[in-house]
Amino acid sequence: MKNTKWYIAGMLLIGAVIGIVFVGSLTSVVHWAGTNKFCGEFCHSMDTTYAAYKKGQHFQTASGATAGCSDCHLLNHSNEHVGYLDYTMLLLDKARAGTNSLIGEIQGSLSTPEKQVAKRKEMSEAVHKQMIERNYSTCRGCHDISRMHNPKKPFIGQMHKNFDKDPKKPADCLACHPKAGHDYAAADAELAKTKEATVPLLLQQLSN
Ligand code: HEC
Ligand code: HEC
Ligand code: HEC
Repeated sequence: MKNTKWYIAGMLLIGAVIGIVFVGSLTSVVHWAGTNKFCGEFCHSMDTTYAAYKKGQHFQTASGATAGCSDCHLLNHSNEHVGYLDYTMLLLDKARAGTNSLIGEIQGSLSTPEKQVAKRKEMSEAVHKQMIERNYSTCRGCHDISRMHNPKKPFIGQMHKNFDKDPKKPADCLACHPKAGHDYAAADAELAKTKEATVPLLLQQLSN
């Protein structure tokens, strides 16, 4: 009798420990897989996209408060109140985003900058469409446009307040802020420059 009690207590303890370890590592894997480093560097499918993110409006900001890949691309990630349901949605969304990229990475469909640039328009439009469908929930998680106030330029806040007046036509942030996430033109220009620079450099090295 005494033994059974200890046995059950022991099993419960082991169960609890496994549970804690599992939940702990699950959340850190989820966290790790959502970092800029993972999204932008681990898979080379994202080389040009990452370069364009670095030229976009959120890699560096006046205050140093920034936004990373998952802040903009994953459902509810930037909202302040993340409940159980939101968190489950986030996990599902992450699984979906992750599998799409993983399949692409395995198939090699985005393995070179040329392939990435060729696919860019299509992917960019797909993201834009999804953001409209979600009414820019990720942007709005950080930017409450009804509370924008720039004392030096008060018209900006006033203007944004009006954008949501018609509920049937909510603000399409990207229409006016196309470089919010990525600035492709700036990144491509830089890439072209390094390409031009490396060829003469290589020739020079060869002739030495
Ligand atoms: C501030 C918000 C924001 C951040 C941060 C951000 N993105 Fe984006 N991303 C967007 C928006 C908006 C679009 C659609 C318009 C465009 O293509 O710029 C987009 C488009 C994309 C696309 C499709 C177009 C393409 O380049 O192939 C991919 C893939 C992508 N983002 C991945 C990433 C990755 C990886 C990171 C982190 C290194 C990141 N994004 C960071 C907002 C963001
Ligand atoms: C994780 C929070 C976060 C998310 C998500 C986010 N932003 Fe921002 N955004 C910021 C911060 C912080 C700044 C910089 C403000 C400052 O420091 O002055 C900023 C700046 C901006 C600026 C001004 C940039 C400039 O150079 O003047 C625009 C426009 C903007 N965001 C639009 C967007 C749009 C559109 C989205 C969604 C695609 C988005 N943001 C998503 C936090 C965020
Ligand atoms: C009809 C065009 C338009 C739309 C739609 C729009 N904005 Fe703007 N936004 C502007 C203009 C113009 C400025 C001022 C110049 C600039 O920073 O680009 C501005 C500035 C900003 C700033 C910087 C504010 C500052 O004080 O410097 C942020 C942040 C911003 N917008 C976020 C958003 C978000 C988030 C959305 C979508 C919910 C959005 N905007 C929709 C036109 C627009």
